[in-house]
Amino acid sequence: VLSRHTPATNGTTTQVPTPVHRPRRLRISPAMRDLVRETRLTPAQLIAPIFVRHGHNLRNPIASMPGQYQMSPDQAAREARELAALGIRAVLLFGIPAHKDPCGSENADPAGIVPQAIQAIKAEVPGMVVISDMCFCEYTDHGHCGVLNTPTRDDFQPQLGEGYLLNDPTLALLAEASIVHARAGADIIAPSGMIDGMVAAIRSALDAAGLSHTAIMSYAAKYASGFYGPFRDAAESPPQFGDRSQYQMDPANAREALREVDLDVAEGADILMVKPALAYLDIIRQVRDRHTLPLAAYQVSGEYSMVKAAALQGWLDEQRIALEMLTAIRRAGADMIITYWAREAAEWLG
Ligand code: PBG
Repeated sequence: VLSRHTPATNGTTTQVPTPVHRPRRLRISPAMRDLVRETRLTPAQLIAPIFVRHGHNLRNPIASMPGQYQMSPDQAAREARELAALGIRAVLLFGIPAHKDPCGSENADPAGIVPQAIQAIKAEVPGMVVISDMCFCEYTDHGHCGVLNTPTRDDFQPQLGEGYLLNDPTLALLAEASIVHARAGADIIAPSGMIDGMVAAIRSALDAAGLSHTAIMSYAAKYASGFYGPFRDAAESPPQFGDRSQYQMDPANAREALREVDLDVAEGADILMVKPALAYLDIIRQVRDRHTLPLAAYQVSGEYSMVKAAALQGWLDEQRIALEMLTAIRRAGADMIITYWAREAAEWLG
């Protein structure tokens, strides 16, 4: 029995130097590891996305995202209360409108789904930071993130100049809808459409409307990513033709992300965001090193669903993987993380 624990030396006398440096000393016990841990993860750093839709007492499971639901405003308020009890400080709202049209009109309706949900959450948990995702893709019948110059084509039309998504007309609509969401009580407007000039347009509109206290969290570097797949079912927002490559960034580019971020800083963003997170940790690090503003990272639907799916097969340990990913995103430099694991992670972190 003893021999099982005795190194087999075969009687040889090979001389090896005794290590001078022994990093393992600091890993010897859970307490020691906790003492030297460089990156901490706490519920206050997590932001929970909530999908809201019209109705009452609704909690519809989202098939592509096990454990996530579309909720009516009353249920969103209940969810916010439970999240607050777990130490979560902020929620990010996505609305599924009653009607879609070419201009995404419901986004600017004071009786629209997101303003209703904001009011319900604020009435239930006044201290919760409510962030409104500001984009048109859930609200337009074509599923693109603004207004189009052609309803059905994604072929390149030089005479259309900037492409099918019209930039500046979309800015005006973003500004108008942002005022509505801020008046309903949103603490932060989070424009997610990668429209040129969106931060400046929203900032000046909010200020002119007497809403200078409302902050802007900009999806500053948002990539055209396959990782958004499950979300498009959740938010019922897939583009009906083409894709988002004319406005979201090419995954191959890093310098361009810094340019995008620099522009949003200059335009007055209060919080920056990089999205997705896992495949873009290098971008998170570069933005962290370059700017002093708070930095958010969005661990998107695909990052969540691929782990959920594998865990459901018994192929990996969900809790361990989720906390490892979240810690890695923090280590890369994110101050806060938007994550579908917010609730579970807060429970796991105790
Ligand atoms: C809307 C928006 C999307 C996501 C956040 N805001 C969809 C998209 O850009 O296609 C994706 C979030 C996720 O995948 O979790 N523009």
